[in-house]
This record gives sequence, C-alpha cells and structure tokens, in this order.
Amino acid sequence: MSAGGRGEFIIAVDQGTTNTKAILVDAAGEVVAKASAPLTSSYPRPGWAEQSAEDIWATVQAVIADIVGKAGDKIAGLAIANQRETLVVWNAETGKPIAPAILWQCRRTAKACEALIAEGRDPMVVEATGLSINALFPASKLAWVMENVAEAKALAAQGLLRAGTVDSWLLYKLTGGKEFATDHSNASRTQLFNTGTLKWDEGLCDLFKVSVAALPDVRPSDSRFGEVAEGATALSAGVPILAMMGDSHAALYGHRVREPGLVKATYGTGSSLMTLTPGRVLSKNGLSSTIAWSDRNGVAYALEGNITVSAQAAAFAAEMLGLPDAKALSALAQTVPDAAGVVFVPALAGLGAPHWNDNVSGTISGMTLATTRAHIARATLDAIVLQISDVFTAMEKDLGARLDGLLADGGASSNDFLMQLQADVLDRPVARSGQAEVGAIGVAMMALLGLHGEGAGADETRSEFRPQADAAAWRQEARRGWQSLLARLIAH
Ligand code: G3P
Repeated sequence: MSAGGRGEFIIAVDQGTTNTKAILVDAAGEVVAKASAPLTSSYPRPGWAEQSAEDIWATVQAVIADIVGKAGDKIAGLAIANQRETLVVWNAETGKPIAPAILWQCRRTAKACEALIAEGRDPMVVEATGLSINALFPASKLAWVMENVAEAKALAAQGLLRAGTVDSWLLYKLTGGKEFATDHSNASRTQLFNTGTLKWDEGLCDLFKVSVAALPDVRPSDSRFGEVAEGATALSAGVPILAMMGDSHAALYGHRVREPGLVKATYGTGSSLMTLTPGRVLSKNGLSSTIAWSDRNGVAYALEGNITVSAQAAAFAAEMLGLPDAKALSALAQTVPDAAGVVFVPALAGLGAPHWNDNVSGTISGMTLATTRAHIARATLDAIVLQISDVFTAMEKDLGARLDGLLADGGASSNDFLMQLQADVLDRPVARSGQAEVGAIGVAMMALLGLHGEGAGADETRSEFRPQADAAAWRQEARRGWQSLLARLIAH
C-alpha cells in the first residue's frame, strides 16, 4: 500500500525548543533511522526568549537531508510534531519573517496579560479557549508584534501578514509558500481559537487586536496538508505532509492513548501531563483544556497541566549538594528509607499547574540536627513525584472519575527508583515507554493512519512499575507534609 510508489516510510520531524529531531518510521511504526540538529535561543532582555525562524527551518532541512542521506528518498510522507505556542510572523510576499520567533517561554507580554486579567477578561477567554490568559500563548505575543513591529500593521492592511505557530511556518516553507495552515491541536494553544466552535474567535481577535485574516487555515491533524515543493528540501517534489500536531499531543498519541483513562507525563526540565477527556471539559482545578488532536474520528479533547520545574529540581539540588549530577543525587537518595520529614517545594520559577502562584519560591522545611544530605536528596525526588501527583489528582477532580495510571516518557523517566516512587505516591501503575522519540512516533502514527487506515501496534518497549503494598504509610505521610508546606507557602 505505498503512496504513488514512493515507498512505505514516513519521516517524522520533532521540532523542539533545543533541537530538531527526525526519525524514519516504517509501515509497522518501527524507527529505522534518526537525525538531530541543535537549535539556539536568545534572551535579549530579562524574561524574553527568541529564536530565528530561519534557523528553525534550516534545522528541519538539515535533519531531512540527514535521513535522506541515510535511507534514500523513497518516502511516503512527512509528519510534523512541534514546540507549541511559539509565534512566527512573516511577509507573504517575500516569505521572510518580519521578527524573531517569539518563544513559548517568552514573558514579554506578562504585564499586558495581567492588565487584561485585571479588566476581568479571563472568564470569557477561558470559556472560549479553555486557557487562562497568560504570556505563554501566541495571542498576546501577536498583539505585541502588531504594536511593536513596524511592518506588521501595513502588511496586515494589504492582506500580506502571516502569523502562526511553528507547524504552520514549516508547512509554508516545505510547500514553497503554497500552504498556510495549522492543525487543531496547535490552534487550540494560541488562545485565539474557539475550541467549542472550532473557529478562530472574532471576539478574541478583537480583544488582542489581531487580524483573523493573518491566521492560518485550521485543519484536522491527519490532513493531507500539502506537498513538498521542488528544491525546498532534500526530498523530491510531491512528498505529502500527512500529519501535524503539537509535541505534547503527539506524545500522548505516541503512547497509544485513544480514549480517556490514562495520563501521560513527560519528565523533562518541566513536566507536561495530558489526559483525554470525554468531550470538552473546562477545568475548575488549575488545568488547561485543550484539543488533543482531530482525525477521521472527530475532535479529541484533553486536559493538560504543566509543571514549571520538574526533573530540573534534581539537577539543581545536585549542584547545591556538591554532587556531579542528578544520577548521583538519586543514588544518594536511595541510601535512606525516606526523607525523615524534610519537604522540598521546588518552586524555582514559581509554581505551575495546578497551583499557579508566581510568588512562591523554592523552599525546604522540616530539617533537624538529624537531617543529612541524603534526606534532602530524597525530598527532591519526592517533590518531583508529588508535583506530578497533584496534577494527576486535579485531573481526577475535573473529570469526577478515577484515572487508571500514568504513562511516562522523557529523560528522567529512565530512573527506575523515581518511577517506583511515582507509582507508590499515585497508588497507580506507571508504564514507562522505552521509545525515546515518543512524540515523533505519535505524529508518524497519525500519518500512517491517514496512509494505511491503521497506526502502529502496541508499545512493546514499556516497563511497568506497580505500587508496592507497603507504600501506604509513606504515601500518606509524604502527601501530608507536602500539602501542609504548600498550603503555608501559598497562604503567605
Ligand atoms: O508548550 C511548549 C512545548 O511544546 C515545548 O516543548 O519539547 O520544545 O520543550 P519542547
């Protein structure tokens, strides 16, 4: 079942913040080749974060060339997973960006967002988008561009302004400027897209003073988005782009989640947790409501919670304790049976989901003369799993249902001890994927679905961690200590 004799392989590109990766996937979903290219960010002012949109594109060209060099160009299609919420703005006539890409991490619009919240706009925005007003999202970033980039208004007036997330920029470049489109998952993270009506929201565009005409066409995640143009990449012209999804969404799909019940958690610098919901659920417990993806089965909705500092807490504590790395911290933590009452809240960049409090800072409490470095190390690992547990519990509250377990991926998930602690604190099984590229695999599976009418089978690389029977007392004590310190910090 090849597409026009082009072969059975899909190239899935995972365009992330620190690097762009690509994998070559066969029809069974097996990874047969990999490529990666680093990407730099710049921080021109405190709180600002930018990238060159041309560099982002160049890394995508590089990883595609690398894969084609290794495996030839008999490619059935391309799939794209991408860093979300990063805004690229360009001129439709020249195809050139008119400003640096404003990264999802960029806080330049924090004050403007606070002003909108003070005006009482948040409930209306949440109702339409499922997202609380925040500088993270492209809406306020685009408002900033309209206000501060000289060309933007003139281009908008001539109908030549193009503004979109990274997927839409890459699609535009891949197709030689022919296609200007995004998928539902990426659109749902812009804070301009109404996830109920599935349209750009005119009211929100007015609020943020942006022109709807500058925004891309929104399509299902498994659409045939366009075809690679002659000379755009090392691929021959005509290779179709078969799927696009935000990276967290693609990871959930890559974990084979197709119905509500399981939560995926990525253990990176921060942590992103996502779970499917039966329909559109607006959170009352500090989470965001989003579109997971859309395909031939319709639109799948999800709840998401983002923890600002997760595995990074281990690297931070390792440095504080004079240890070489997080691995050494984990080894030290395992020399004691528990944290002996020490609690560490790693709010090193405020508190993210589900507490959302920028005023809380990192705090250690409960130390006595009997406290050792090992207890602090253990309290750090406890903090990583307790934060995840808080988001998991918030998801259960929003759903009014018990969730069955956690699917783990990301660098720190390779730590067996941490995974066991996670299962113990949740009192649910944790399954870790052995597939390092679960996001890229997810979007490749979405493309395969479009191509063959079926995706890959089960994830054979999973390792399971079951809650230990004797963990109940520790769980209760750890949660009690954690919650009481959090409550004290939040009340301050
Ligand atoms: O929401 C931002 C997220 O999509 C960034 O992902 O993999 O670049 O850290 P990553």
